[in-house]
Amino acid sequence: MGQILIKGRFILLALVLMFFVSACEKEVVRTEKAEKTTPVKTTENKVSTNEKIKIGFSMDTLLEERWIKDRDLFKEAVEALGAEVEIMAANGDDALQISQAETLISQGIDLLILVPHNAESTATIVHKAHLAGIKVIAYDRLVKNADIDLYVSFDNEQVGEMQARAITKLVPKGNYVYIGGASTDNNAHLIKKGAFNVLKPLIDKGDITIVYDQWTKDWEPANALANMREALKANGNQIDAVIAANDATAGGVIQALMEQGLAGIVPVTGQDAELAAAQRIVEGTQSMTVYKPIKSLTTKAAQLAVALAKGETVGEYQKVNNGKIEVPSVLLSPIAVDLLNIDDTIIADGFHSRKDVYQTMNK
Ligand code: BGC
Repeated sequence: MGQILIKGRFILLALVLMFFVSACEKEVVRTEKAEKTTPVKTTENKVSTNEKIKIGFSMDTLLEERWIKDRDLFKEAVEALGAEVEIMAANGDDALQISQAETLISQGIDLLILVPHNAESTATIVHKAHLAGIKVIAYDRLVKNADIDLYVSFDNEQVGEMQARAITKLVPKGNYVYIGGASTDNNAHLIKKGAFNVLKPLIDKGDITIVYDQWTKDWEPANALANMREALKANGNQIDAVIAANDATAGGVIQALMEQGLAGIVPVTGQDAELAAAQRIVEGTQSMTVYKPIKSLTTKAAQLAVALAKGETVGEYQKVNNGKIEVPSVLLSPIAVDLLNIDDTIIADGFHSRKDVYQTMNK
């Protein structure tokens, strides 16, 4: 009877234990599932196990010369820091940029760096990255109305000021055309603001009249060409100077001027120090460009991206308001380039070779 009682107790104990173990297993399965549905990032393990930090780079476009440099130099800089980068470009398509960013986020990146095509709609990307515990850096272009973690760019207002200063020196009085960038890009607004900081007193004095002022959809040369043709037509070719926001739009503007026999007569500005623009400067059809040493930008952005991804604090920076918050920002200085300093700037830096810049002159 006593033995039966002891056996019975054992059986009971074994049953209790079995129940307990199976409950624990269920708990493990439940937490694993929960982690899968809300993958919130923590990089602490990666840092301690020396696993590579992975950066996601979501780009608007690769259709312009500068962005290819940005892509290649950024990759180089990230890899030099022992991290890796996954790059996607959306070719100016907002929906595609959002879905590419979602793909990067789901691939387990530690930080997202973003060149927004559309300053407003990319706020949703920032929100989604944050939900997954991933910090976001706005690269070159600001994301508006979002809790962006950091903004790294050149001083775009200064770019516009440089363009207007250079051209008002050449043409202090007369009819001006303003060919802006893409209105969806915050930089286009900052560049225009900078240009008008310089132009306004001259407009108020009556020295300068803005006879045409238009944004250029997606910064495309074909759209700038169409706008410039319209400007020439509407003013019977009575135009003395053109401020084009970048070299791509300057290319379209100069083509329109060429059609009227005015290329090289009407000064035109630009930005980016693209090879074609540097060649136009030495040929005399473009007056200036604004050189932004891309390598300084990619080096700085890569350092900050890897540091933030590792959870390090990155110091105190100046603040830029994006409509929602004061974004900690690093703004590098652009350089105005014309025929006088082209050799000492973009050629001396190896941004373009002397041979390439003067190539069309030696034909
Ligand atoms: C950049 C310029 C570029 C333009 C068109 C701007 O946001 O700052 O360098 O030319 O986009 O791609």
